[in-house]
Amino acid sequence: MCYDWIGVGKLGMDCAEVMAEKHDVWGYDVVPRTSKTVKVVNVIELINNSDWIFIAVPTPHAEGYDGSVPSSHKEPRDFGHLAVFDAIDNINRYAKTPKKIVLVSTVLPGTTRKHFITRLDKMHQFVYNPYLIAMGSVKWDMANPEMVIVGTASGEKTGIASELIEIYDTIMQNNPRYEIGTWDECEAIKIFYNTYISAKVGIVNMIQDFAIKIGNIDVDVVTNALAKSTMRLQGPKYMTAGMGDAGACHPRDNIALRWLAQEYGVGYDLFDTIMHAREIQAKNMALFLVKLREETKLPIVIHGKAYKPDVEYCIGSYSTLIGHYVKEAGQRVRYVDPLADDRNECIDSIDSNAIFLWAHNRKITYEYTGEQQDTQPYCEIRPGSVIVDPWRKLQSTKDVRVIHYGNTRLGLKETHGLDEAPIEKPVESIKPPKPVATVDTIEIKKSDLEVSVKKSKFVKKFGL
Ligand SMILES: NC(=O)c1ccc[n+]([C@@H]2O[C@H](COP(=O)([O-])OP(=O)(O)OC[C@H]3O[C@@H](n4cnc5c(N)ncnc54)[C@H](O)[C@@H]3O)[C@@H](O)[C@H]2O)c1
Repeated sequence: MCYDWIGVGKLGMDCAEVMAEKHDVWGYDVVPRTSKTVKVVNVIELINNSDWIFIAVPTPHAEGYDGSVPSSHKEPRDFGHLAVFDAIDNINRYAKTPKKIVLVSTVLPGTTRKHFITRLDKMHQFVYNPYLIAMGSVKWDMANPEMVIVGTASGEKTGIASELIEIYDTIMQNNPRYEIGTWDECEAIKIFYNTYISAKVGIVNMIQDFAIKIGNIDVDVVTNALAKSTMRLQGPKYMTAGMGDAGACHPRDNIALRWLAQEYGVGYDLFDTIMHAREIQAKNMALFLVKLREETKLPIVIHGKAYKPDVEYCIGSYSTLIGHYVKEAGQRVRYVDPLADDRNECIDSIDSNAIFLWAHNRKITYEYTGEQQDTQPYCEIRPGSVIVDPWRKLQSTKDVRVIHYGNTRLGLKETHGLDEAPIEKPVESIKPPKPVATVDTIEIKKSDLEVSVKKSKFVKKFGL
């Protein structure tokens, strides 16, 4: 089997040469290239040589946008896509048979679907497969990646995705993890992986700045203590998107640190940025509820007012922050929470169907303690209700529709044009859930969430 590469520059040539250790590999570039193991040919020869074409052409930033000179004051700019367009146009022009296209170049989320798929001839298949590779260690990184990211139209492990994994299995030295997602998810995994590193470095260097400004602080003492904090900081905890940071400590600590940043004149205020993002994220969720309210005419109820399940404390509650923005948008908000110490706008039950924001999820909050039981409904959820689940764990029942806030993937299968049938899951499995429920019972089914609560049970539990 032969594999072809369009764009054999800093990344492409080393990667092609790693492949060439096990396979026949050809390469094409707009500038002359030489290699002992990759056969460099012209574009027409290359396109008709093999079914597989890997594209590693540049997706350049605009001048002055590489980070070597100040750019944060400048207009935001996307990467350039002309070289990818050119590679696609060449494939459209010269391919006589269907090709399996693997795009390696870095692009922002949404780019492939919007710009590339619409341009590529329909007879070809397309995988987005960005690399987590660094200069200086390209060949080693290629064979020892932290993960291999494989994007398909639907996010399913399609035939082309499986074949690509089989190819990689022949060259990998570390039995890597394969992450399969939609093109858009894989674009996001790649770019947010990088920016996560930038955020981490930004935070530790901020501690360095504080060490210089405040005195009597060795930054390494602080960062080493944080580096060893595997319970909450380094690891999967807090990696489930959902409600915002809340409680008696976190928001107020950040809010107070804004003062410290000003007091010592560090020159920037990451805390303000974090708290501002937290507020706008709450507002976005509130406006989502308000839009649903306008569509359904149902009242908005926030299910959980305390800042987390099993406690009464409403201090620093993200639920009330969302409630604030619901009211700011001109809608009424009510809360159900049998424990909440702030009873303002709290109700014990609602005698109509409603929009519920499922703010509490016990399992996610307390999983690290070994706790497995999920939040039980705090009141009767009447048929025709809609639950907005920011944790994406509940399932729709016969009468209650659950919306997974943060998952916009459902139903993609119907819209794509350049993928083939999945080999692992049936198409039906990714259709949007249909509303389902019974009268006195809300059945929220999922293997890890077996909640089936009859009215009498929660009335008894919470004395409602
Ligand atoms: N370099 C890295 O460490 C790295 C790591 C991960 C991802 N990436 C991504 O990979 C892509 C390539 O990066 P790079 O560092 O290899 O860039 P590069 O500029 O070194 O290499 C790109 C090659 O493509 C060639 N080229 C340009 N236009 C072409 C066209 N229309 N047809 C054929 N060849 C063309 C160039 O001549 C060059 O040799 C970028 O999207 C980059 O963001 C790079």
